[in-house]
Amino acid sequence: MKTMKKTLLPGLTAMMLLPAASFVSAAPDSAPAPYMPSAEIRRSQQDFASDRFGIFIHWGIYSMFAQGEWYLNYGPTQEEYSKAAAGFYPANFDAGKWADAIKASGAKYVCFTSRHHDGFSMWHTAQSPYNIVDATPFGRDILRELADSLASRDIALHLYYSHIDWGRPDYPRGRTGKTTGVDLSHPDWPSYYDFMNAQLKELLTGYGPIRCIWFDGKWDHDEDTTPFDWQLDDQYAMIHALQPGCLIGNNHHEDVIPGEDIQIFERDIPGQNTAGYSEQEISRLPLETCNTMNGMWGYKLLDQNYKDPRTLIHYLVRTAGMGANLLLNVGPQPDGSLPAAALDRLASMGAWMDANGETVYATAASPFEARPWGTATRKDDMLYVHLLEPDSLADRRTLPLPALPAAPVEAREYRSGRPLPLHKEGKDYSVALPDSLDAIDYIISLKLK
Ligand code: GLC
Repeated sequence: MKTMKKTLLPGLTAMMLLPAASFVSAAPDSAPAPYMPSAEIRRSQQDFASDRFGIFIHWGIYSMFAQGEWYLNYGPTQEEYSKAAAGFYPANFDAGKWADAIKASGAKYVCFTSRHHDGFSMWHTAQSPYNIVDATPFGRDILRELADSLASRDIALHLYYSHIDWGRPDYPRGRTGKTTGVDLSHPDWPSYYDFMNAQLKELLTGYGPIRCIWFDGKWDHDEDTTPFDWQLDDQYAMIHALQPGCLIGNNHHEDVIPGEDIQIFERDIPGQNTAGYSEQEISRLPLETCNTMNGMWGYKLLDQNYKDPRTLIHYLVRTAGMGANLLLNVGPQPDGSLPAAALDRLASMGAWMDANGETVYATAASPFEARPWGTATRKDDMLYVHLLEPDSLADRRTLPLPALPAAPVEAREYRSGRPLPLHKEGKDYSVALPDSLDAIDYIISLKLK
């Protein structure tokens, strides 16, 4: 793990309590006016921030090669790769089953890859025949089925949309996707930009409420000598005009840009940078960390290295402790079903959330920095202290409390509600722990003055 970065811990702590204007992102000096999120956006931000747990789904024809969603970048030509579409028939795809498993996991929203870097669209777009209905024998609009199934279970829908397209000659190549055999001699940004905006318009007008458009790929041009103009202003404005409550997030690994409504972190909890994508400042926007259950986003046959449920629950709790949501990925198999290992993790997390979700949903960040032993989440005058690794305490019978914003007046075991002795020595408080502690997370409800 690299060093902790500058954090806005106090701001984050209060994030859920701050007036809506606190979500405004800073505008550079040259910008005419700072971006002011609308009332609809502020409502979506509040809903989003109280959800705390979402499921990412990476699915496309790449699942057939079973080597992750970047496969096209690593050797095949576009011509050969795209032939997979003609054989894509996910006979076991059942959006209702996905939605049931996701609902039972305790997740409140889904972010689905409408179109990844390989350029294959998972809905019936009119902008290109290279899509799930026109190019496959399956012929069903997967996004429509998924959107309907999620809506009927009250699960919000977010759409991942790649700014990159490795299959189109008009996308001006950045640093990836240059070996697909596509003729790169006539890039045409205006044509590609129009294509993307026409697709986004379809997504935002044909599939019910979309709570977030989740962009990815801007980093493709981060090594250009002259800065690449993605014309995000107009694209963002179009999205907000089409669906005034639709949040915009961009996985660009940079500081947030005006017009964005959430801040995304990839493979790291805000404040950490183990993966090298998180040099950016933590903003005051609602935060989200996305991560994989195994190591890859798209289905990868050889990656069965799934994190165990305890690790995943700890990750969710530590993410909530930083005031952020966890967007946890599942990569469906080529037949359309979710891997058994993923279903198992979803069920375990759901059982845990059933019993303990109150200490995660709609909470604010911990008032103290995470410790090796754990973290905290906060709701009004209640602090939920999550003891995740009791073995890292100097004395397993005593939890020394870090400095708190207000004096604790009462400590209880969350699970049973029974009181726990609270000791005060000078300015320091500690909680006496019982002999037996929950194996995953021993939660203490601490009432603050
Ligand atoms: C990266 C990868 C992409 C993945 C995304 C998810 O940007 O390029 O494949 O979809 O991370 O966070």
